[in-house]
Amino acid sequence: MINLVIGSQWGDEGKGKLVDLLGRDADFAVRFHGGNNAGHTVVVGDKKYPFHLLPSSILRSQVVGIIANGVIIDPKVLITEIENVEKDGYSLKNKLIISTRCHLIMPYHKALDEAYENARGKNKLGTTKRGIGPTYADKVSYNGIRVYELLNWELFVEKFKFQAKIKNQILKLFKVKPINVKKSLEEYKKYRGKLLPYIADSYQLLKKAANAKKNILLEGAHGVMLDNDFSPYPYATGSNVVTGAVNTGSGLPDSKIDNIWSVVKAYLSRVGGGPLPTELFDKTADKIREAGHEYGTTTGRPRRIGWLDLEAVKFTTEVTGSNKIAITKIDILSGLKEIKVCVGYKLKGKMIPYSSCGYKELAELQPVYKSFPGWKEDITGVRKFERLPKNCQSYVKYIEKFLGIPVKIVSVGAEREENIYR
Ligand code: IMP
Repeated sequence: MINLVIGSQWGDEGKGKLVDLLGRDADFAVRFHGGNNAGHTVVVGDKKYPFHLLPSSILRSQVVGIIANGVIIDPKVLITEIENVEKDGYSLKNKLIISTRCHLIMPYHKALDEAYENARGKNKLGTTKRGIGPTYADKVSYNGIRVYELLNWELFVEKFKFQAKIKNQILKLFKVKPINVKKSLEEYKKYRGKLLPYIADSYQLLKKAANAKKNILLEGAHGVMLDNDFSPYPYATGSNVVTGAVNTGSGLPDSKIDNIWSVVKAYLSRVGGGPLPTELFDKTADKIREAGHEYGTTTGRPRRIGWLDLEAVKFTTEVTGSNKIAITKIDILSGLKEIKVCVGYKLKGKMIPYSSCGYKELAELQPVYKSFPGWKEDITGVRKFERLPKNCQSYVKYIEKFLGIPVKIVSVGAEREENIYR
């Protein structure tokens, strides 16, 4: 069985909870795109581990975690995550595989990310400043350095020096302090020593696992509205987030995936800049932000809040070919008098689909809303769909009908067991 979990909005949809559920039966857990711009807290007993690069399910005893080729790695962050779990007695030896093909995030990528953001001034994108865009840019322009080069230290040094020389010239244009080549090389040599035991050909492992019908969990990061192609670019992340990213980012053919889960948060949140048609600026937004703890896992930034945008989600579920929906955080809407969902976009008096919009249109259009009466009850203890307040049931059924995809899980609380299965 191969399960893929994808965020249908702007990230932070609560994918971690579904990943946690599916991880119970998984043999392999795979990250296949993005880097440490993603973030998720893994809870084991009373311990909490913030993961940005390790697959979330890796602490389950039977799971082998794979960081496949589409992921970009900041070695320092990854080593910190490994050391954090190892100091609590977990051993990741033979449990973590890092693809030789992953690209490395370098100090100059982070410096460039920050320099570009500062230079953009009021037009800044709100990146996580983790060096994501510059690293992917180097990847596609043949200027990247991969984990592969860590295996061949002389090559690494040669490539690093060449890139650092050029990047330092660019940083100079931004009037930013250049990176220290000697110090960086010493650091990366240390990282190399720590990461070597985990580096392998992840493709062979995944191919064999898929052929042996192992249970593989593909942990998508971010959300499709941040996809490098399908977002309102440039308000994007550096990677593709859609189903095809599994193929390019791990080598597994998409046709082998059994379940493509779209995770749909019952409302909307976003960190970073860019248009957000259903954004709320009133007390309802504050209420939802507080109740839903909508502050960034990676940066701590307060998230922007909006009504569920089904025009956008319909698009993302179509593009990803999703066949299952998990609705998350619906309990956060309890107590609201009225709940709205966006069912289409209107621009200059005419309906316009999400796919025809760039960031300018998205900023100018008017969302067309359907309004639902809310419910007062605390629903976190409910485990059967029929026991949900009627208004809450109607909300879920409407989403299901609108998307034309079965809603299989409704998460009604933050705790592991607070779910309704349909
Ligand atoms: P970058 O990925 O750091 O380059 O940031 C580009 C945009 O994607 C910014 O708006 C970020 O806030 C957003 N972003 C990147 N990763 C995530 C995520 O995992 N959740 C939510 N937003 C994200």
